[in-house]
Amino acid sequence: MYLGLDLGTSSLKAIIMDDAQSILASSSAAISVSRPHDGWSEQDPEDWISALNVVMQALVSKHSDLLAKVRGIGLSGHMHGATLLGEDGSVLRPCMLWNDTRSHEEASELDANPLFRDIAANIVFPGFTAPKVEWVRRHEPDVFAKTTMILLPKDYLRYRLTGLFVSEMSDAAGTAWLDVAKRDWSEPLLGACGLDRSQMPDLVEGSEVSGTLSGDLAASWGMAKDVVVAGGAGDNAASAAGVGAIASGDAFVSLGTSGVLFASNDAFRPKPESAVHTFCHAFPKTWHQMGVILSATDALNWYAGLVGQDPQTLTEELGDDLEGPSEVTFLPYLSGERTPHNDASIRGCFSGLGHGTTRKDMTRAVLDGVTFALADNLDALHSTGTEIERVLAVGGGSKSQYWLKVIATVLDVPVEVPVGGDFGAAFGAARLGMIAATGADPAQVCTQPKIEHRIAPQKDLQEAYAKARDRFKATYPALKAIGA
Ligand code: XUL
Repeated sequence: MYLGLDLGTSSLKAIIMDDAQSILASSSAAISVSRPHDGWSEQDPEDWISALNVVMQALVSKHSDLLAKVRGIGLSGHMHGATLLGEDGSVLRPCMLWNDTRSHEEASELDANPLFRDIAANIVFPGFTAPKVEWVRRHEPDVFAKTTMILLPKDYLRYRLTGLFVSEMSDAAGTAWLDVAKRDWSEPLLGACGLDRSQMPDLVEGSEVSGTLSGDLAASWGMAKDVVVAGGAGDNAASAAGVGAIASGDAFVSLGTSGVLFASNDAFRPKPESAVHTFCHAFPKTWHQMGVILSATDALNWYAGLVGQDPQTLTEELGDDLEGPSEVTFLPYLSGERTPHNDASIRGCFSGLGHGTTRKDMTRAVLDGVTFALADNLDALHSTGTEIERVLAVGGGSKSQYWLKVIATVLDVPVEVPVGGDFGAAFGAARLGMIAATGADPAQVCTQPKIEHRIAPQKDLQEAYAKARDRFKATYPALKAIGA
């Protein structure tokens, strides 16, 4: 048995998987995000530990027989968060998350230093770890002075599980301190932020062993003594392990809180100016690229909250048949945008509202708008030379057939829907736990799920969507011009 743990933005999820890769048990616990000011997004790492205890206690009470057989654990988590620890391992301040954009000035300043794009292979986005710590250096100098270790969110879980400070390449690539080609911390980049290697965890590959579960926890959860903890991966690379997107050309679209268009590469192919992210994959000598939008289901959830409905009711009332684009245009930039704009200060909008506008028109506009933002990501990926011929759909939003039809039609690629089941980051993490514990070949373990159905682009609607997308694209500069 293998345990996969995924620290998501809105919940922590655990699954137990057997050697045949069937998921035999799962459990999850909600986690909230605190937004004390516009652009801020924080979590208290102690809430992650409480959530971990909740999911583990649920597994202990119902599946102690399975837990006792676990040989490997894999970790996944939301990327880029800055968890700052002091001398005694205590957390010094709330973790600033991936969608926290307060450090946009620090990000532009670091990005203006050519070393960052050269070595870290990416724009220094405000959501990345380095500018957040730079913000702390300027605004909370006492905290910065006390910081002896900086961990990514899932690596803090690892610290609490194993007592060790270890990270792995896929998540470390999102800090802006990693030499992404060499797969090692970069002393010049750390130095540019007033830091050094002693404040960074050790590095392993995602599919390698990072340590073993502490004896105390193993005993309290009724687990074996020598359970291996794999390096694991940032949530996107972990999802890729889950859907078997590990060979060059494999791609998926993830409709989670954030939206991601992900492609695996067998070579290191950076093009920072495109705002495409080029990161290490979870396996040795592999990399991946992705376009990232900050609000995917987050935009739908926000809108659902406004109209007092749950998101599923809203998407279900559209039916399954595509009618063409909404007359209303929606820009999903609720917390700024990464790919392609790299713009922390832009905010979203609805336009084209009339007396006749219905709730359904607005829901369609939200789904269209997020899809147009993903189409901008596809253009950015194309500009790096990466071609995508088909995409697997994962994440909560992929339950809406209507939305997947919009995506297939607008991106002009077939969208594949896996057979019912969970192929998300927790499953990918469990697969990494299995590889680390058994030494199995990643290509044998990380296979692609069976496809339940394939959604083809609806050619007859493409012209209408292209016109709506032109409106969407023209709206961004117009919003900039009015300072929105
Ligand atoms: C990727 C990113 C998000 C988070 C949250 O760069 O910021 O996808 O990992 O899921």
